[in-house]
Amino acid sequence: MNFDALVTEETENGYVCNVKERSFNDLPEGKVLIKVLYSSLNFKDALSASGNKGVSRNFPHTPGIDASGIVEESESELFKKGDEVIVTGYDMGMNTSGGFSEFIRVPEDWIIKKPENLELSEAMAYGTAGLTAGLCMRKLLLHGLKPEDGEVFVTGATGGVGIVSVMLLSKLGFDVVAISGKADQKDLLISLGAKEVIARDEFDHDMKNPLQKPRWVGGIDAVGGNILSNLITQTHQRAAIACCGMVAGLELNTSIFPFILRGLSLFGVDSAESLLEVKKEIWSNFASEWKLADINDQITEVSLDGLVSEIDKILKGEQVGRIRLKN
Ligand SMILES: NC(=O)c1ccc[n+]([C@@H]2O[C@H](COP(=O)([O-])OP(=O)(O)OC[C@H]3O[C@@H](n4cnc5c(N)ncnc54)[C@H](OP(=O)(O)O)[C@@H]3O)[C@@H](O)[C@H]2O)c1
Repeated sequence: MNFDALVTEETENGYVCNVKERSFNDLPEGKVLIKVLYSSLNFKDALSASGNKGVSRNFPHTPGIDASGIVEESESELFKKGDEVIVTGYDMGMNTSGGFSEFIRVPEDWIIKKPENLELSEAMAYGTAGLTAGLCMRKLLLHGLKPEDGEVFVTGATGGVGIVSVMLLSKLGFDVVAISGKADQKDLLISLGAKEVIARDEFDHDMKNPLQKPRWVGGIDAVGGNILSNLITQTHQRAAIACCGMVAGLELNTSIFPFILRGLSLFGVDSAESLLEVKKEIWSNFASEWKLADINDQITEVSLDGLVSEIDKILKGEQVGRIRLKN
């Protein structure tokens, strides 16, 4: 039996992405064959789909770093046909054929059984971006950050990680300040729970004085670069920042002073390689005390064919909210 998948190929005119028919023999080895019902578009998928060799070395390739669906065939004792499952990260969509497909075949230790009280569609409304926001939140809570401590920021606020971070911090009672490049999305960010929106331009300059007037007790940063450099200068005593992204730049120019004079903690998050147990914890939180009632409102749903134009948009930093693939 054949099925459809989005395939990126290297051509004389660069990398091109098209929906193509594939056979099960094209899928990699793995104990569990899963019928993909939903996947979601993340920044890393856009890099892979456009031929970024830092993400995917070999082409033709099917991107898609996450998926939710139903087990079709299993050689694993942990899963049986019909189980509803979620797969995120590890090598999926990087150098292992990914979720922008009607089927995936993956190792058993990449798979999580869908928690009760979370729909398969809802899981991919959060997707990897939401999981990452959740992992950042976990770092801040383990650090001991509490809503009464003061203001927290979220950068890249209208993007996938940002939007879930704003919603989650607000749901947990934090005073969230959204930092965004999209002035026209201020009302959206306020409606999601931000108490204030600041233009990202205010932070997009070289870091000058490493210790500025303190404002933040913490934050979730999805952009890096100058914006994170400058936010670090405005942290209160014992603040904590969780960082995960680099759309504003790969460099981080900072000083030792916020760390040794204000006790700042800067946590890194790598969702792909997070322990499966930790991923389970985050999904179970999204099915219970972290459940975001409005998460589906921030979703645009597309078919495999509809993904290509959305990939262009995310690469240009123009995406608002999340894109979910529905097969
Ligand atoms: N470490 C991990 O585990 C992990 C997991 C998921 C994602 N990520 C990374 O996190 C970042 C965000 O991912 P995402 O899926 O949320 O992407 P996204 O949906 O494209 O969102 C990124 C947002 O960043 C802002 N932005 C865009 N260009 C910018 C620029 N030049 N300078 C500053 N801000 C800019 C925009 O928001 P505004 O217009 O509102 O400012 C944009 O919506 C990416 O770098 C991605 O690779 C890392």
